Amino acid sequence: MKKADVISTILAERKDLLPRHLSSKAYAPSNIALCKYWGKRDQELNLPVTSSFSISLGSKGATTELSVNSNAHDAAFLNGQPIDWGSSFGKRLLAFLDLFRIKPDLHFTVNIKTNIPIGAGLASSACGFASLIKAFNLLFGWELKNHELSILARLGSGSASRSLWHGFVEWHAGIKTDGMDSYGEAIFDEWSELRLGLLILNEREKPVSSREAMQRTVTTSPLYSAWPAKVNHDLSALKQAINLKDFLLLGKTAESNAMTMHATMLSAWPTVCYFLPETITAMNKIWKLRHEGLMVFFTQDAGPNLKLIFLEKDSETVQANFPDMEVVDPFANGE
Ligand code: PMV
Repeated sequence: MKKADVISTILAERKDLLPRHLSSKAYAPSNIALCKYWGKRDQELNLPVTSSFSISLGSKGATTELSVNSNAHDAAFLNGQPIDWGSSFGKRLLAFLDLFRIKPDLHFTVNIKTNIPIGAGLASSACGFASLIKAFNLLFGWELKNHELSILARLGSGSASRSLWHGFVEWHAGIKTDGMDSYGEAIFDEWSELRLGLLILNEREKPVSSREAMQRTVTTSPLYSAWPAKVNHDLSALKQAINLKDFLLLGKTAESNAMTMHATMLSAWPTVCYFLPETITAMNKIWKLRHEGLMVFFTQDAGPNLKLIFLEKDSETVQANFPDMEVVDPFANGE
């Protein structure tokens, strides 16, 4: 099944609609997985092997302005800089725009503004593609439901399927080959005391993309076969933690999930290692603080940076220990 077939199914009779407006604008928050998406069952459609579970980053995300342009080609900007169509993000973006080009002479100008570092494992592609698909929905006037937008966003980047909502989101893996049952669902429990800390240790673009790292892990890691059971366990633990507002259970589940994901990568060949010396130093500091009684945990994605998880009451103490860390209220509305 191709991406274009999925689009035909979702857009059905709307498929041939011309843009209803000349321009549109939409925001999507970034999201951080507390139980990771790691491994695809379908590479073309970004269908995951397992479900995953995230929390949004509130006012940290991307705003995309999309307009129809009268030139003979698309134009795209990321934080004001022209996007190189030859770069890996440029190629992915162009392929995504092509999916919605209902006639060959329809061209778009895309202006993506993010307030998080790009490509450093802070889910910039998640909020980028989610805000872009929301902008397409407005431009064409499709009036799609959020779960349909989630399916379309997934075609750009898997984790984008979780960036259509604020707060906690579960992305159901689904079992269908066309992925029509693989989309995000908002979990409406609020936990207003929860805080995330963005600890940027290195802003450079990651050496191995998450797409490549995932595939290498699935095909070569002897530990990968244990991953689906770990995810099942962690998904129910997270839901229980949220239900009972059990912060210890939430923190340890998220940290252990991230460490297990990295263990599968470390055992892949060639090894994928996103740890930098600064990452290990920060982890040790967190473990020491915890040993001393401060309830702070971390998670890490496909990059060297850490996201700390703690409660509002400990915000000042955690900040004092990590002065460069940016504290995010995940339930703040960033629209
Ligand atoms: O959506 P992608 O292809 O950028 O993959 C995201 C992978 C992780 O960030 C490591 C995990 C996750 O669930 O977000």
